[in-house]
Amino acid sequence: MGELLEVYEASTSASLAQYKATHASSISDVSGYWSELAKSKLTWFAPFSEGLSGSFEEGSVSWFAGGRLNFVGKENETAIIWEGDEPGNVKHISFHELKNEVCKIANALKSAGVTKGDVVTLYMPMVPELCYTMLACARIGAIHSVIFAGFSADAIADRIQDAKSKWVVTASAGSRGGRNLPLKTICDAAVKKDRCVGVVEKVFVFDGKGETGSDWEVQDIHVKMTELVAAQRPVCSCEWMDAEDPLFILYTSGSTGRPKGLVHTTGGYALFAMHTTANSFGLSQQTAASTDGPKDVYACVADAGWITGHTYIVYGPLLNGCSTLMFESTPMYPDCGRYWDMVQRHKITVFYTAPTAIRSLMRFGDEAPNKYDLSSLRVLGTVGEPINPAAWKWYFDVIGKGRCAVVDTYWQTETGGHVITNLPGITPMKPGSCTLPCYGIEVVVLESATGKEIETTEAEGVLAIKQPWPGMARTCLGDHQRYLSVYMKPYPKYYFAGDGCRRDKDGYIWITGRVDDVLNVSGHRIGTAEVESALVAHMAVAQAAVVGLPHEIKGQGICCFTTLTDGHTESDDLIKELRQAVRTQIGPFATPDMIIPTSALPMTRSGKIMRRILRKIAAGELDSLGDTSTLLDPSVVDTLSKKVEQAR
Ligand code: WT7
Repeated sequence: MGELLEVYEASTSASLAQYKATHASSISDVSGYWSELAKSKLTWFAPFSEGLSGSFEEGSVSWFAGGRLNFVGKENETAIIWEGDEPGNVKHISFHELKNEVCKIANALKSAGVTKGDVVTLYMPMVPELCYTMLACARIGAIHSVIFAGFSADAIADRIQDAKSKWVVTASAGSRGGRNLPLKTICDAAVKKDRCVGVVEKVFVFDGKGETGSDWEVQDIHVKMTELVAAQRPVCSCEWMDAEDPLFILYTSGSTGRPKGLVHTTGGYALFAMHTTANSFGLSQQTAASTDGPKDVYACVADAGWITGHTYIVYGPLLNGCSTLMFESTPMYPDCGRYWDMVQRHKITVFYTAPTAIRSLMRFGDEAPNKYDLSSLRVLGTVGEPINPAAWKWYFDVIGKGRCAVVDTYWQTETGGHVITNLPGITPMKPGSCTLPCYGIEVVVLESATGKEIETTEAEGVLAIKQPWPGMARTCLGDHQRYLSVYMKPYPKYYFAGDGCRRDKDGYIWITGRVDDVLNVSGHRIGTAEVESALVAHMAVAQAAVVGLPHEIKGQGICCFTTLTDGHTESDDLIKELRQAVRTQIGPFATPDMIIPTSALPMTRSGKIMRRILRKIAAGELDSLGDTSTLLDPSVVDTLSKKVEQAR
């Protein structure tokens, strides 16, 4: 993706020079910068004594040590606008109602034995109860572990086991795009697996889809949550937490091994979520005064099961006292105008989605968006992968009518919130570039081979962060060595993000994609190792090598090469079975796009699979294969390319 020459000027008078001065001063004293904000933005039960302490290298970063807090909200304004699967099925929930519901659920959990420090696994549809339960956990100091509702029973079981989670919260069912999500059934299958028996004590089941819960059998382990919650008082004093106490864990994929549970903290994460939401979307002026002035109607249409939902549906907007939209459905249901219909009905001002959604809607043309009044929009956000300039322009012109800022927010599950993005009205935009670092974040580009910091403005290498920030994950649950070796050791003294990038003459960052074996499929992060292990678990598979495949809508697709064990032969049925094996072990969102059984893989003489070559074969880029002299048997390239051609 080449750099476009176009630069889209920001539309207000706030100056880039001002940003640069603020940014420079913020990184000259990160501890002071974040401490001032923490004092003014968060309510402290006991003050903290120190801003930043610890280091990347030791994996000992700590923010606001000694401080104790919990989150205290506003009262009467709208907190959540919930838009259900069917258009127009809407609920408005005020901060007062939110607090009552959170307290009732907190009491319900406490009454069943949940205490501070326990991990509560949530496997829920996108309904208000998901948000209430996350906040109820925060209120009583329990650590939530939300699992995206697209994960399979196996994936849930792995996460329950890893976190030793005694408590699971689910709903009898959910619905998405008119389809039923049998969440309780999937959850039951997970907790019945050997690795969860004896771990899980209770499964709390909310009534889904207006059901009364009568259609399912209740075993000892099940708690009818809707009934239990109804019996509670809406008053529950909060647990005063240490700033460094874990707020939640969230599993994400790495290049090797199983998904890891990243641990986010109460004080640092909350401040970072709050601050970046206000800045990146320009919310602060509108919501600071609770009485008059225009209010933002903020909508992040991600799923709360991913970090985007944690930070930018739940914690970020609510901590700012801003209403937040929770969207249960899909951009295609009932038709491709759903987002724009919502913008019109709710008069949405800030709309935040992913490039994959934009690309898939763009295919249907301008007719759908042009049917609706989109004049309420002020800021459009994008997240999850680099946005291709064509999609950026469509978003800017057809959705934003050339009046709205498009903020390209670069960040990760590990960073907790935005670390690089343009600021609306401040940073001139270049389609495809996430532009400049956020306040308090010192971004550097390192030479990938040597780890040397590249001092020149124009640079190409790997992206790293030089100083700690409050929102960073502090560890991988139960495996601090893994945390150190993935993020802190590759380039000592820096946080290593795992992405390649280029910095242009204006200091703008262009993310070039992951430099490890992590795929980004429709903005979902999938480890190639996880897909491979799902495949080799099938008795027909001897070896599996999984690589990304360029995909017009999804960004990347999943391409699997497999050799077979003796006695198994290639067939369409086998391919179907293997595809199903991946869906069963991970979930439908990880369904392979292409499975290529083969008698041989490209191996080096020392017996290593050459993924670099497989990537080129999958992409059909045979003229740029690079050095193939180390291949044991060069003819496999030809054989595999033909197979890929046929499978396309
Ligand atoms: C990876 C993190 C952060 C929430 C969604 C994904 C890629 C994310 C951008 C962007 C280019 C991006 C990176 C990153 N990524 N945002 N604006 N431009 N790439 O979170 O699952 O933790 O994935 O997503 O490769 O490392 P995640």
